[in-house]
Amino acid sequence: MENTTENLNKLEADESLLGKTQGSASQGLKQIWAVGGGKGGVGKTLVTANFAITLAKAGARVVLVDLDLGGANLHTCLGVEASDKTLTDVFSPNIKSLQELALPTIVPNLSLISGAQDAMNVANLPHAQKQKLLNKLRQLPADYILLDLGAGTSFNTLDFFLAADVGILTVLPEPTSIENAYRFIKSAFYRKLKNIEYLYDARSLIDSTMNRKNELKIKSPADLIRNLETLYPEVGMKIRNSLNDFEMKLVVNQTRTEIDSEVGFGVRNVCKKYFGFNIDYLGCLEYDSAVWQSVRRKRPLILEFPASPLVPTIQKMVGHIVSEQAEKIKRSQLGL
Ligand SMILES: Nc1ncnc2c1ncn2[C@@H]1O[C@H](COP(=O)(O)OP(=O)(O)O)[C@@H](O)[C@H]1O
Ligand SMILES: [Mg+2]
Repeated sequence: MENTTENLNKLEADESLLGKTQGSASQGLKQIWAVGGGKGGVGKTLVTANFAITLAKAGARVVLVDLDLGGANLHTCLGVEASDKTLTDVFSPNIKSLQELALPTIVPNLSLISGAQDAMNVANLPHAQKQKLLNKLRQLPADYILLDLGAGTSFNTLDFFLAADVGILTVLPEPTSIENAYRFIKSAFYRKLKNIEYLYDARSLIDSTMNRKNELKIKSPADLIRNLETLYPEVGMKIRNSLNDFEMKLVVNQTRTEIDSEVGFGVRNVCKKYFGFNIDYLGCLEYDSAVWQSVRRKRPLILEFPASPLVPTIQKMVGHIVSEQAEKIKRSQLGL
């Protein structure tokens, strides 16, 4: 891959909007970014498609995967003809690699694996098949693999979200959507904790801590983790570290007022206080009629309405994630 970070800077947008993307640590890096959210219509497909195009335009090889099992519509947003090659075939013995299912798009460097349209029960994949699919995704010859997840909090959706290097949650500034977003965050947190528990054989320690709930004044998951750290420092620390890796990103979509954009800070603060983990609030995407017009024209927003105010915002968000991930990888390579 060419240097994505540098290329992002070369995008036609104002360079300063892309943030201080620096260094070449993202070179050769393969990452999965997953976009999820509490319910349908909150902008998951908008974000996934346009983040992917931004990366591809910056020179990265990108594969978009429609994992909205049951509501797959990414192909329509990208103007890709429906094909009989879809994720349905993923476990077919005739398919050696997922690459065979990738359809070209109008954007160079960007291909699409279309979502399953039929009755194949991908919505309830057993664990082994989920692992197999994840392995196949990681083997794709791409720099970035972007997953458009379905609505809801099924184990499938949560597992793909948690397995990704970057998990992005979209929410609308409406009480019902915020409620759904909290439900998603909570489900993802407990699913993650379950995985960690299993990894460190910590169930009995968690149970014994919870049995002293009143005495220890445990009122939230954050209190539980704090107490675990005090009572069982070794395992407590491991759990704390694993949870620290769990930093989801948040996008507030369809904002209309200044106050709408503050929803993101509210969600971030509640998560820190209640769950004890960080949410990286990427910012908001304002309501823009260009979005639904582009959907009607079956053309992605960035290509159809490059002057939309959402375009530089999306570029800035992508630039932020790319440089942050590059930094993270650099630190872990240095053993920091
Ligand atoms: N920022 C926005 N401004 C205007 N309309 C939007 C915006 N984001 C989404 N929409 C509208 O909402 C619909 C649903 O968005 P979509 O990305 O398909 O959501 P999801 O994938 O979460 O179901 C779009 O087709 C579009 O009409
Ligand atoms: Mg969608």
